[in-house]
Amino acid sequence: MPFYRHVGEIPAKRHTIFNTPDGGLYTEELMGEEGFNYDSALLYHRYPPTALKAIEAVEYEEQPTEPNHPLKPRHFRTHQLKPGGDPISGRHLLMANDDCRISYVVAGQSSGLYKNAIGDEMVYIEAGSGTVETVFGRLPFTAGDHVLMPASTIHRWVIDGSAEDSFRALVLESTGHIGPPRRYLSRNGQFLEHAPYCERDLKGPTEPFTEEGEDVDVLVRHRGGMTRFVFRHHPFDVIGWDGCLYPYTFSIHDFEPITGRIHQPPPVHQTFEAPNLVVCAFVPRLYDNHPRAIPAPYHHANVDSDEVLFYVDGNFMSRKGSGIEAGSISLHPGGHTHGPQPGSVEASIGQAGTEELAVMIDTFRPLDLGPGAKDSEDDKYAWTWLEGR
Ligand SMILES: [Fe+2]
Repeated sequence: MPFYRHVGEIPAKRHTIFNTPDGGLYTEELMGEEGFNYDSALLYHRYPPTALKAIEAVEYEEQPTEPNHPLKPRHFRTHQLKPGGDPISGRHLLMANDDCRISYVVAGQSSGLYKNAIGDEMVYIEAGSGTVETVFGRLPFTAGDHVLMPASTIHRWVIDGSAEDSFRALVLESTGHIGPPRRYLSRNGQFLEHAPYCERDLKGPTEPFTEEGEDVDVLVRHRGGMTRFVFRHHPFDVIGWDGCLYPYTFSIHDFEPITGRIHQPPPVHQTFEAPNLVVCAFVPRLYDNHPRAIPAPYHHANVDSDEVLFYVDGNFMSRKGSGIEAGSISLHPGGHTHGPQPGSVEASIGQAGTEELAVMIDTFRPLDLGPGAKDSEDDKYAWTWLEGR
């Protein structure tokens, strides 16, 4: 999605003869969204990307979900969730609806090759570092990065360290495509001046990444379940590509906050959008400078949203006395009015700024609760707005 990029060798003209050193032909693949009518990339493979030696159904049980009933604001302490697996297999499903799945993963192993054929993924790295290896090239990542992985991109997570909690991340799996808010882009897709980040802040692959191998397994998540494809040749055989569709990273620390004289509404914090949801970043910033400003947010009823806030770091000013800590996730569902905990409004007056770091996902359809939510819930949270508690 973001903007035109060219990596490695490509022919001068698309859909023309492109010879390998031994006089053969590279195989051209167009990977595109919305049926040839949206962003795409042209990739040049050493081997046909279609040569499969085996296709196997994978035994897989979807993590069950149930409605948020009775309707309650919720608090999940993700750091209570058990480490295990890798950045793909270790996902504890917290919440889900027909548009997305939101998971938390704490893992100490690198993953195998994988592609999510249902939609794009956004993985926010809470802790850890490493590299995501993809057919487009390699993407180094570290804490604070959002890793944006387009649907059907074959990739694997290689993490630094081997402690069981080397890697911590919040995972958003969309059923559609995730990209910057349309309102921040020109008609031709360039970031506009009022956008809180721009092209220079997006880090894409810089060179091809190839690997030789035969009979290579790729796990495919699709609408019918999980399937294992066994490729004749290693799918990391792309020697060049160009286009506007590729994986990239964006660090939360490169988000330039928009502030004002009085409280700015959450849309100023928006980083990404996807069908029926938005993603926002709350970063260290100066508070409102009107002499009578109240920096804490007002109470609000998001009648069309379920609001998921992942508290990463800093002092969570509006949640005083609520039990919220680093790694906490709050869910404030549509139909519930929420706001600062008692005393937070008064405490915010006169403060110069905040060091908070948080990622928010607002969905426009209600979220059901998964096993990760049940395993980490602080069931006292709903009562933390009571005075004198
Ligand atoms: Fe809110």
